[in-house]
Amino acid sequence: MADAPHPAIAFRGIEKWYGTRDEPVHALAPTDLAVADAEFLVLLGPSGCGKTTMLRMIGGLIAPTSGEIAIDGHSLWRNGQRQAKAVSDLGMVFQEANLFPWLSIEQNIALPLELKGTPKTQRMERARTLTKLVGIQGFEKRWPRELSGGMRQRAAIARALSYDPGILLMDEPFGALDAMTREAMNIELQRIWLETRKTIVLVTHSIVEAVFLADRIVLLSPRPGRIDMIVDVPFARPRGPDLQSTPDFQAIVRQLRQRLNEIS
Ligand SMILES: Nc1ncnc2c1ncn2[C@@H]1O[C@H](COP(=O)(O)OP(=O)(O)OP(=O)(O)O)[C@@H](O)[C@H]1O
Ligand SMILES: [Mg+2]
Repeated sequence: MADAPHPAIAFRGIEKWYGTRDEPVHALAPTDLAVADAEFLVLLGPSGCGKTTMLRMIGGLIAPTSGEIAIDGHSLWRNGQRQAKAVSDLGMVFQEANLFPWLSIEQNIALPLELKGTPKTQRMERARTLTKLVGIQGFEKRWPRELSGGMRQRAAIARALSYDPGILLMDEPFGALDAMTREAMNIELQRIWLETRKTIVLVTHSIVEAVFLADRIVLLSPRPGRIDMIVDVPFARPRGPDLQSTPDFQAIVRQLRQRLNEIS
């Protein structure tokens, strides 16, 4: 898909209002954004600015109030109906791994395939490939409670990749992890991305995580969210932990931090 004619994700005039019992909430002002195939895009912005809202709209979990979203050139909504073709190319990872405690790790990972009707031998084979990809091989038969938080998050990533979607959506996937584990997971996610070349949209509150992982960082303003700034991150990959102490890396971090402070 390197020379795909369409962006992986296209937002055209996407706006979101939430209806509530009191005033309607204006979560996202009309927004245009295109995410290229195999791009690693990070959404950054103050709490409540609409990051999760954007991700949930890309994932087809909620509909925009107006505007059009296209996935690989296919409209996500038509006449109020979500289009199955568009959402079939998406995998999602949330802040909590949300594994089913009564299923083993491999059963959790293979669950989306089971729901799709993939035969058992094929799904277990896929689960084994994925546990290797995310670095939890040997834990296939364990229960989620027997794994650390970082390992559970790896399993959640494996599950999101189970049916090989082109696009991976991640909402603060490492927010619940300690700093050391989080840094290790950033390096792992980079490796997974280099191996699979998925289009990734990741939401984070960590500026360092954003600069370490992203091709481009989209900074959103406070609610109603609008794109305040887009920062290109030029560093070659694979990026190592030492990159973070270089002046160039720190300059981008500083630029984003200053702007966040100004708008928050
Ligand atoms: N279902 C809902 N009903 C009403 N308002 C909502 C709903 N979901 C989100 N909002 C509001 O929309 C705004 C954007 O929320 P959203 O969760 O997208 O922000 P966010 O950028 O992900 O914040 P955080 O960084 O804290 O996760 C917030 O003001 C929030 O209160
Ligand atoms: Mg959020």
